[in-house]
Amino acid sequence: MVIPEALRRRYEEYGQAHVLRYWDELDAEGRQRLIGELERVDLERIDRLVRELVRAEPVVPIDPAGIRPVPIHRLPRTDGERAARRRAARVGEAAVAQGEVAVVLVAGGQGTRLGFDGPKGTYPIGPVSGASLFQIHSEKIVALSRRYGRALPFYVMTSPENHAATAAFFEANGRFGLEHLRLFTQGQMPAVDRRTGRLLLAGKDHLALSPDGHGGTLDALAAPGPEGQPSCLEEMRERGVRTVFYFQVDNPLVQIADPAFVGLHREAEAEVSFKVVEKVDPAERVGVVVELEGRPTVIEYSDLPAELAERREPDGSLALAAGSIAIHLFERSFIERIVGQAELPYHRAIKKMAYMDEEGRLVEPDEPNAVKFERFIFDTLPLAARSAIVETDRRIEFEPLKNATGADSPATVRQRMSDLFADWLESAGARVLRRSDGSVPFGIEISPLYALESSELKGRIPENTWIEQPLYLR
Ligand code: UTP
Repeated sequence: MVIPEALRRRYEEYGQAHVLRYWDELDAEGRQRLIGELERVDLERIDRLVRELVRAEPVVPIDPAGIRPVPIHRLPRTDGERAARRRAARVGEAAVAQGEVAVVLVAGGQGTRLGFDGPKGTYPIGPVSGASLFQIHSEKIVALSRRYGRALPFYVMTSPENHAATAAFFEANGRFGLEHLRLFTQGQMPAVDRRTGRLLLAGKDHLALSPDGHGGTLDALAAPGPEGQPSCLEEMRERGVRTVFYFQVDNPLVQIADPAFVGLHREAEAEVSFKVVEKVDPAERVGVVVELEGRPTVIEYSDLPAELAERREPDGSLALAAGSIAIHLFERSFIERIVGQAELPYHRAIKKMAYMDEEGRLVEPDEPNAVKFERFIFDTLPLAARSAIVETDRRIEFEPLKNATGADSPATVRQRMSDLFADWLESAGARVLRRSDGSVPFGIEISPLYALESSELKGRIPENTWIEQPLYLR
């Protein structure tokens, strides 16, 4: 086998022919693999990204004068507002009951900060049961399907790196009783050396590839399925799905297909909707939803100038306080339109990545050496003709698992789960032992199959129940 001439020329033209350096050492299989990978790389795009994001400092043209708070549906504070949310919830419930809502979970990330050996969704997070994130999410879907008398279709995005392990985990657990589960795989992007912009090799016969970011979800939903299956989007269309509920694997508190959220989205005739929480600390690492030149847009925390992050209203609250928690709704028709027309922008992430050096040694760098290119799902927001930004209470809906220790770690997530379930039990009449700061000193857990929300506990907890040791209701 020889190197296809056109391919070699293309790589030479873009100054990337070093990836063929080990050709003579490869066997037929290795050559096949390398050629296959190189043919899939869009060199023109990589070249542009290297110019814009590696050779140049990415410019974030944020003019503070063009930025305003975005109008949001605040958490209801008055009876009238509470009634409006209840009305919206009825609209949302009807949509779910009619099969118009599908659920998409993105779980293709590498989870490098958590440093867990396996897909993050398999992490045993349940404070008492050790249930995995996938189990908790799946049980919610099963419980919702029972509640509405209709299977809620569940789509889980993996990456080529973690697909097999994810699929095996669902199979080993009997798919958690899900009626409609479909895994689909996102794309990959090659990483480059952060100093030279040259493609990195992870081995003599393969590039250093990584998932193309959660923004890759849209293309992945539109990609044809394996063995002639329709794409996920086509399947959704055939099933009569109009709205997609999107969430990320690391937040066990997510209220999947929350009817009030779906209802507000529908009432606003929105194409894209975001759940937000009030940001109280200017340094908090969440993106904020703002209005930029009149359009709702998310600014990453790292791109938000301190002057803006710290700007305050007369009552002392932060002016730009709509913290995005990566829970979204998309109209299926919006995704179809975007996939055909617009490309979400790529962002750069500077990371440590093992690579093969010029002597053929695999190097594990001590310092970040690579640039990865990723697209972000929130860049869809300015492309929507209409959107709804809906506030929720972070205490009940947001505690993501990101790190091994400290903030957003297994310890904080389990504590928050136990505290929240203790609130549910108390509102159903039980009393729970607490520390002086209000936190619960042991694990409490309620499976979604037992109750999806606190109101479902009503009348089920015997009077005078006193909880002073670990409890798992299932
Ligand atoms: P994060 O940005 O937190 O990344 O992803 P991560 O990969 O989980 O963790 P780190 O940054 O390496 O520590 C947020 C969500 O988006 C998904 C993740 O699986 C998670 O649910 N994601 C991220 C993808 O599905 N694909 C990607 O390419 C990136």
